Amino acid sequence: MWNRGLELGAWGTLGQGRAVHLSRLRLRDFRNYGRLDADFAPGFHVLLGRNAQGKTNVLESIYLLATLRSFRGVGGAQMIRHGATGYFVGANVTGAGDHEIKAYWSPKERKLSLDGRPVRKLGEYLGTLRAVVFCTEDLQLVKGPARGRRRFLDLLLSQTETGYLATLLRYTKALRSRNALLKQSGPDELLLESFTGELVATGNLLIAARHQLLPRIAPLVSASYQRVAGGRDEVEVVYQPAVRGDFAVELSKARARERVMRTTLVGPHRDEVLLRLNGQSALAFGSEGQKRTYAIALKMAQAEHIGAVHGVMPVLLIDDVMGELDAGRRAGLIPLLQRAHRSGGQVFMTCTEENWPVELASELFRWTVEDGVLKRATG
Ligand SMILES: Nc1ncnc2c1ncn2[C@@H]1O[C@H](COP(=O)(O)OP(=O)(O)OP(=O)(O)O)[C@@H](O)[C@H]1O
Ligand SMILES: [Mg+2]
Repeated sequence: MWNRGLELGAWGTLGQGRAVHLSRLRLRDFRNYGRLDADFAPGFHVLLGRNAQGKTNVLESIYLLATLRSFRGVGGAQMIRHGATGYFVGANVTGAGDHEIKAYWSPKERKLSLDGRPVRKLGEYLGTLRAVVFCTEDLQLVKGPARGRRRFLDLLLSQTETGYLATLLRYTKALRSRNALLKQSGPDELLLESFTGELVATGNLLIAARHQLLPRIAPLVSASYQRVAGGRDEVEVVYQPAVRGDFAVELSKARARERVMRTTLVGPHRDEVLLRLNGQSALAFGSEGQKRTYAIALKMAQAEHIGAVHGVMPVLLIDDVMGELDAGRRAGLIPLLQRAHRSGGQVFMTCTEENWPVELASELFRWTVEDGVLKRATG
C-alpha cells in the first residue's frame, strides 16, 4: 500500500535546488495570536491541538502572505486580534535566495514590503511564496454550483498564465457594463456593440486558456484520485464551455432572448466543468467520501500544475482534511503529501488528533497549538 503512487508527477521532476519553503513566520495581533515567531524547516509539519486554539489561523496567515487574501473569504478587519488596531504578518521564504515579505493591515493603513522595500506592483510580490490550501469548503467544488468550479479554473490560470487575470478583469467589467445596459429599456445600440466587442475579444481569450488547461489538469486529477482512493473509480474532468461555436455569432443569435431576459446569456461566465465518476456526475451519484476525494484530487492537481509550470512546488496547507477520510483514504493521501516534502517542499497540516498510519510518524515535525501559542512538540 505504501508503494502506491510512487510514479511521480510534477514533484518527481523537481530537484532539491528548486524547492522553496517558508523558513520563518512572524505574527503580531493576528487573530488569536498576540505574538508568534517560529522557524520552519522544509518538510512535513503537523499542527496539533483541540478545537478553537488557532491551528487554522496559522494556515490562514501563510495563505495570506502568499496571496494577500484569506481563504476563509473574509476581509482584513476580521483578522485583527480583538482590541488591537492592526495586524502584522511576516515571513522569510527560502529557495534559490532568501526573501523577506511583510504585510501590515489596519483600517487606516496598509503596508506591504518585499526585502525591505515597499511593493509598488503586486506582480512583483505575488509568486514570492506560492501556496495551495486544502480545506473542508473545497467540497463545494464538487457539490456546489458551477461558479465555484469556474473560480477554481480562474485561480489556477491566474497563478500560471501571465495576463490571464488582467483579461478576466476586463471581461468581468465588460459583462457588468453590458448587463447594466441590457436592464435599461431601449438600450443604446452603439454602446451595446462596443461592450459586446470587448466581451467577445476578452471572452475568446478566457475560453482558449480554459480549453488548453483542462487536458493538462484532467490526468493530474485522475491520478491523484486513484492514489487516494486506491484505483477503483474512473475519474474524468471535462470542460463544458457555454460557447460551442463562434462567440460573436452565438451572442447575436441570443439577442432576442437577451432583450427579454435583460442579461448576457452566453459567454465563459456560464461555463461548466463536468466532474465525472465512473461515467456519471460525481455530484449526483458520488458518495460523500468520493466527493471529498474528488475535491482533494482537484486541489492536488492545482498544486502539481503550479509546480510543473513554475518548477517549484507550492507550500501545501492542509486544514482538517484527514478527519473526513476513512483509514484507507487517509493512507492513500499520505504518500501524496510525502512526495511534496521529500522533493524539498513543505506541507503544513492541522489535526485534532494523530489518526494517520504510524509509518509517517518518524518523518514529521510536530507542533502543538494551544490558545494562540504555537510550540514545537518533542517526540
Ligand atoms: N480577530 C480575532 N481576534 C481574536 N481571536 C480570534 C479572532 N478571530 C478568531 N479568533 C479566535 O481564534 C480561535 C479559532 O482559531 P482557529 O480557527 O485557528 O481554531 P482551530 O484550532 O483551527 O480550531 P478547529 O479545530 O475547531 O478548526 C477561536 O478561539 C476564535 O475565537
Ligand atoms: Mg481549524
